[in-house]
Amino acid sequence: MNLINNLEWRYATKKFNPSKKVSSENLDQIKKAIQLSASSYGLQLYKVLIIENSEIREKLKPASFGQNQITDASHLVVFCNYSVVTEEHIDEYFTLKSETEQVPISDFKGYSDFIKADVLNKSATEKHRWSSNQTYLALGNLLNACAELKIDSCPMEGFEAEKYNKILSLDEHGLNASVIATIGYRSDDDTSQGAKKVRKSFTNLFEI
Ligand SMILES: Cc1cc2nc3c(=O)[nH]c(=O)nc-3n(C[C@H](O)[C@H](O)[C@H](O)COP(=O)(O)O)c2cc1C
Repeated sequence: MNLINNLEWRYATKKFNPSKKVSSENLDQIKKAIQLSASSYGLQLYKVLIIENSEIREKLKPASFGQNQITDASHLVVFCNYSVVTEEHIDEYFTLKSETEQVPISDFKGYSDFIKADVLNKSATEKHRWSSNQTYLALGNLLNACAELKIDSCPMEGFEAEKYNKILSLDEHGLNASVIATIGYRSDDDTSQGAKKVRKSFTNLFEI
């Protein structure tokens, strides 16, 4: 299975080669993999920022515990969940569904009311956590797409979301930096490459 080979190949890259860039064709494929990610009810309650600008990345580095991947990778990807989930988000989804499937929006009234009752009754904290959870599925697809393209990546939670939200003006758009990833090409002397995969055994991980 190709996926397993790809998963064996990838690793959380610590040192990127700053002079090697991901092509726009490959970037489009990674974006497609993110776009096709599953999400709860299909609502896709997030935005994804793809940052190449080095000045912005220099500003974000201190808010990422000084991790070099932020500035050395080809691109920094910031997955941002909507911090407040509203009725409008659900209405937007049904407008898109109606247009895409060429079905009158009124046909979805019952389903839309059901989702609204479920989602909008969650507490603010639950809604925030729930929309943030969705971004991790998109992150997983980014990692897998990169591995298939032989592009290196590092998933990262080592950053201060509040500082990211300010620097990137995410607050103003009702967004919150949930999780990030750096993508590019490994440096020849990245000592993490070739490290053995440390993973629980099947016996410890699975109960059948
Ligand atoms: C959600 C998440 C957050 C992570 N945060 C960081 C990080 O901030 N910096 C880093 O160098 N690695 C980070 N990692 C990488 C993990 O340490 C790494 O995936 C794990 O040790 C397994 O190693 P492998 O990915 O090389 O197989 C993160 C991984 C995940 C999934």
